[in-house]
Amino acid sequence: MGVVLEVEGLSFRYDKKQDRSNISDVSFQLREGEWTALIGHNGSGKSTLAHLLVGLLQPDAGQLKINGTVLRKESVSWDIGIVFQNPENQFIGTTVEDDVAFGLENINMPYKQMRERVDKALEDVGMTEYRMADPSQLSGGQKQRVAIAGMLALQPKVLILDEAFVMLDPRSRKELMDTIRKLTNKGMTILSITHDMEEAAHADKVMVIKQGKVAKIESPSQLFFTDSSLEKPFAEKLRNALKNRKCNVPEKYMTEAEMVLWICKSN
Ligand SMILES: Nc1ncnc2c1ncn2[C@@H]1O[C@H](COP(=O)(O)OP(=O)(O)OP(=O)(O)O)[C@@H](O)[C@H]1O
Ligand SMILES: [Mg+2]
Repeated sequence: MGVVLEVEGLSFRYDKKQDRSNISDVSFQLREGEWTALIGHNGSGKSTLAHLLVGLLQPDAGQLKINGTVLRKESVSWDIGIVFQNPENQFIGTTVEDDVAFGLENINMPYKQMRERVDKALEDVGMTEYRMADPSQLSGGQKQRVAIAGMLALQPKVLILDEAFVMLDPRSRKELMDTIRKLTNKGMTILSITHDMEEAAHADKVMVIKQGKVAKIESPSQLFFTDSSLEKPFAEKLRNALKNRKCNVPEKYMTEAEMVLWICKSN
């Protein structure tokens, strides 16, 4: 898998009079078709980093490369899309389908192709039946799904989700995580910012950010097995609880599916 996004020595501070940076010398790479979860405490700099990646903020130092080409300052790249946590202020269209089509109209896409993209994106987020609805009349989670569809329709190389699943009910969240996995299988690169360790456990890699610095980039299995300071996904919590009860559980990280298999076999 080739590197799509390369982040080199990115630093940023909101208050230029302050000494301490909000993002400090951050470097990492995102590969094609890879899903990276970005986790860290409140105020650790996740959203600030996301804003830097999409050009909503300009770094004080460092640079971004997309497919090996340095992204020029002040230029906005259509290759990187973002969906925010709060969908309220992300709407422009008067109907759901207008809204999803908005970004495509802006790049003057031919009607037929636009139609196909909008249909597919609405299907991906399970909102086809609401296509003629007024976005302002939707529930929070439905609005969020439409906002995600609007970004999917643009087919960015890299899609950043900044706590974009927070408003969703558990089933929709699971469905959208499956959709995300399908998209990565087709080559889309995902960076999902989350406080949900189940979501992080679904990613290929987890990047931990602490006080504006990258503390770790590891696979979920490595990270959740070794880092005792983190809240663990359910299966790993269960494994630890069984271990504390002197139950003979495997001495390795287990996904939920692996845990289910193990429990069935041991009975
Ligand atoms: N617009 C702003 N002006 C000044 N400081 C800001 C601004 N936005 C964020 N900060 C500061 O930058 C730091 C990082 O904030 P950021 O929003 O990136 O954190 P986060 O990791 O996304 O947190 P959360 O998990 O709560 O969303 C915090 O110390 C915050 O107070
Ligand atoms: Mg944030």
